[in-house]
Amino acid sequence: MNTPPQFQARQVMQSRLVTIIAFAVAAVVILLTITSLPSLSSDHLGGSMLMAHMAASGALVFGLPLLAVVGFSKMVHPTTSNRRQRFGFWLVLITGWVTIATVFACMLPMFGTEAMHELMWIHGIAGFAMVPAAAVLCFGLVWIRKESNRSSNPG
Ligand code: HEM
Repeated sequence: MNTPPQFQARQVMQSRLVTIIAFAVAAVVILLTITSLPSLSSDHLGGSMLMAHMAASGALVFGLPLLAVVGFSKMVHPTTSNRRQRFGFWLVLITGWVTIATVFACMLPMFGTEAMHELMWIHGIAGFAMVPAAAVLCFGLVWIRKESNRSSNPG
């Protein structure tokens, strides 16, 4: 069955948007990872690195839901996305959600100091896990673009 041209054009537009947002999210993840590196040698983040980390975190809090909303319909259909893309997409959303939720939980008057330390530890692990997740997603999106360029199918 042939797909109507306007539907095809919408799919191409959505694919481009998802690719742009995914690369922007990946850039923010790299920035957040770099600004969190001092915590590996010292005890906690502080000073200008913490300031930079917090500044970049706003972009992720905005970018992640945007990626979810724009990419959802593409990533639930096996006809409009491949396995690598779907795996990367859901991995980015899950690790990103845990990264953000752990910080949010620390702001609630529910946890003691010990629990907050554990939440921040989980935050760091989930945050670092976003790096390979974003790489899988971006790689999957670019790979299909190259393939589709060759076969002239919309990516
Ligand atoms: C790829 C994303 C991210 C990575 C790799 C990452 C990694 C880290 C690491 C390793 C720490 C040090 C944890 C510790 O002190 O034990 C940290 C601290 C922190 N992160 Fe992130 N993070 C990311 C995203 C975010 C986001 C999105 C937010 C805000 C919504 C955030 C807010 C914070 C805050 C407030 C601290 C300071 C905790 C403290 O030491 O008092 N981070 N982050």
